[in-house]
Amino acid sequence: MTATLIDGKAFAARLRERLAKEVAAMKARDITPGLAVVLVGEDPASQVYVRSKGKQTREIGMNSFEHRLPADTPETALLELVASLNADPAVNGILVQLPLPAHMDEAAVINAIDPDKDVDGFHILNVGRLATGQKAMVPCTPLGCLMLLRDQLGSLSGKRAVVIGRSNIVGKPMAQLLLRDSATVTIAHSRTTDLPDLCRQADIVIAAVGRAHFVKGDWLKPGATVIDVGINRTEDGLVGDVDFAAASQVAGAITPVPGGVGPMTIACLLANTLTATARSNGLPDPEGLTP
Ligand code: GUN
Repeated sequence: MTATLIDGKAFAARLRERLAKEVAAMKARDITPGLAVVLVGEDPASQVYVRSKGKQTREIGMNSFEHRLPADTPETALLELVASLNADPAVNGILVQLPLPAHMDEAAVINAIDPDKDVDGFHILNVGRLATGQKAMVPCTPLGCLMLLRDQLGSLSGKRAVVIGRSNIVGKPMAQLLLRDSATVTIAHSRTTDLPDLCRQADIVIAAVGRAHFVKGDWLKPGATVIDVGINRTEDGLVGDVDFAAASQVAGAITPVPGGVGPMTIACLLANTLTATARSNGLPDPEGLTP
């Protein structure tokens, strides 16, 4: 092992401590940030995430509102709930856990959320704001990756970054954030040819493909910074999208799985909730939580 380990778990814990202090300061002004999480159906992974979000929200002193609806809930009922959360002044952030049951139109539900309460950053207005360099709510996982990269590298200006994966939740917003920090960005995906050669040119590799051990050690430029967004359940337990054992012999710095990007996602959800609360109360954005 030659690479520096990027400890997302410790970074996220420090971030939550800082957020707790800011929440306490807001409460002293009679403002208590509130996050509403909506879960439709019984997807086991989603249930774990939602429980964990509620717990961490309360731990830093924010209000947590959980809404659980049965899998056969009509879309109109979900849209009515979203409208009531939009109108509720105690709710500063709204997250509808994905995936939704197949009978629902995910885009219609996401776009029904008040963009200023859209702490996931998935609303079409926030996607557009991020892409055009305006003040946006930024998706949590890419925001967490950006914080780790800036902490590790300082300036990203002029660095070559390859993002593997083009999802709306991670790949595309990650590329926008890197571009905003003046990196030279390539988005690679399942149809990309010569991916190993492309990766070997990169100072920064973000792996977000959802395939266990997809990125090999000999795909990396020596000294590269590797951010592994993958969470794959295998016979060997939880593993990332990067072959960690081999990659850590070549990379300069790398996130482990678990304990890398994963803990950053919920910490950034809380950060976004704080940012949304500040904005809705006419306060300045908290320092360093937005790109
Ligand atoms: N499902 C998996 N990841 C996410 C996420 O970041 N936000 C929401 N709302 N649902 C998810």
